[in-house]
Amino acid sequence: MMNIKLTCTSVILQLLFIFQVQGQFDPIAFTLGQDSHVNILDVANATQIPFSVVITNHQAASLNSGVFTCSEAGLYKFQVYSLTKSDTNVFLELYVNDKLVASLWGHTPGDYAAAGNAVILPLMSGDFVKVMSRSQYAVNVYGTPDEIYTTFTGVQLGSLELNTEGSKLSAFSVTLNQHQDIIGGQNVLYNNILTDVNGAYDVTSGVYTVPSSGLYIFHFFSLARQNKELYQDLYHNNQYVCSIYGLTDQDWADAGNTVLLHLKQNDEISIRADGNNSLYGAADQIYTTFSGAQLVTDTDMNSGQEKIIAFSVGLSHHATVTSNNKVIFDRIFLDLQHAYNQMSGEFIVPVSGLYEFNYHALGKQNGKIWLELVHNYRYVNSLYSHTPNHYATAGNSAVLDLDAGDVVFVKSHGDVDLYGTDKEVYCTFTGYLLAPISTNNEIVG
Ligand SMILES: *[C@@H]1O[C@H](CO)[C@@H](O)[C@H](O)[C@H]1NC(C)=O
Ligand SMILES: *[C@@H]1O[C@H](CO)[C@@H](O)[C@H](O)[C@H]1NC(C)=O
Repeated sequence: MMNIKLTCTSVILQLLFIFQVQGQFDPIAFTLGQDSHVNILDVANATQIPFSVVITNHQAASLNSGVFTCSEAGLYKFQVYSLTKSDTNVFLELYVNDKLVASLWGHTPGDYAAAGNAVILPLMSGDFVKVMSRSQYAVNVYGTPDEIYTTFTGVQLGSLELNTEGSKLSAFSVTLNQHQDIIGGQNVLYNNILTDVNGAYDVTSGVYTVPSSGLYIFHFFSLARQNKELYQDLYHNNQYVCSIYGLTDQDWADAGNTVLLHLKQNDEISIRADGNNSLYGAADQIYTTFSGAQLVTDTDMNSGQEKIIAFSVGLSHHATVTSNNKVIFDRIFLDLQHAYNQMSGEFIVPVSGLYEFNYHALGKQNGKIWLELVHNYRYVNSLYSHTPNHYATAGNSAVLDLDAGDVVFVKSHGDVDLYGTDKEVYCTFTGYLLAPISTNNEIVG
């Protein structure tokens, strides 16, 4: 009897141990890129955008020529960024199965145009997600082996799992599917709810009320109507955080930004028009989006059981970055492990694992912006934009598999004049640990 009991106990202990090891959240995450030009004709049927480079693939079982097939039900965040060839269009659409969830528009007369978007969605196993061209539009994507602007990133969020407080991590994604004119100082009122795990976004006020304290990531993107100015700020309660700006002569300007914040329960987050905005939207053209996800609760942060690494920094002054130099960000929204070095501009990886990065920039008037995300000495991807007479903006993102001690930074390609002031933070660099798990050397037991 005694022996059997002991054996049982030890089996249970072993099972518990295995469960704890395997209970480590091990998310599906990927980034695809395109390193050659893609020219799609204005044919009646939309064409799927091919991706030639796998920048990272952690457990995405199927990424067949750029179509992500979900193998595990859960909540996922997707980002798409792109750049046109000169004087051509990117008119891209993110689809979940046969449903359009987000659009990207980029065109600048006589120049290159950037566009991006992000959404958070629950997926079922078997759902597929892909980037398509808009039917009946010619789409010309710019890409070469050392100039990857067009990327497709997906990460599984922990949000459908119960956290230690027994509730779900919060996440939301709201969009605008009609035109909207907003008076300066008013919130953008996203009218279409794609995802709202806690019912925390209020359609009438445009305010997201934080359901529980913790660490949150936010993305917001928008498109101005033709010849109109796009100028929006993210506010945390009544505190200014960061902005997006766009204006293109004779065209529709796209802009977006990303930030990570440590928030308290009942804090309010909203996107405010800074000056009158006139936004473009339609049922089948969804450019204006606002998404957020809680990455971890305060309880889990304080328990010390989870490795939590996150930083989010911005530029609060004009900066000229000469060719091949790192961008040094000075506004620290968050830097949990002091892993962002404000002297060198490097994020120094404290713990090996999978990380997600986003970076965005706005140039000075008439200036071009050309920045690159670099991992150690390895090129990852780029952003580029130039808007004649105006301020160019662009962004990009990547999931990277990193080792402790690696460095990740944003550097200039050619001389770049970046725009920033105390209350105009457009240039940002954000990263966080998705999971302390490696694709290269799978951790077993
Ligand atoms: C275009 O799509 C329609 C509807 O899905 C399909 O019936 C048709 O065969 C497609 N045409 C081409 C040229 O692929
Ligand atoms: C902003 O819009 C309001 C309402 O249409 C208008 O009264 C005001 O003049 C506009 N402000 C500017 C600076 O255009």
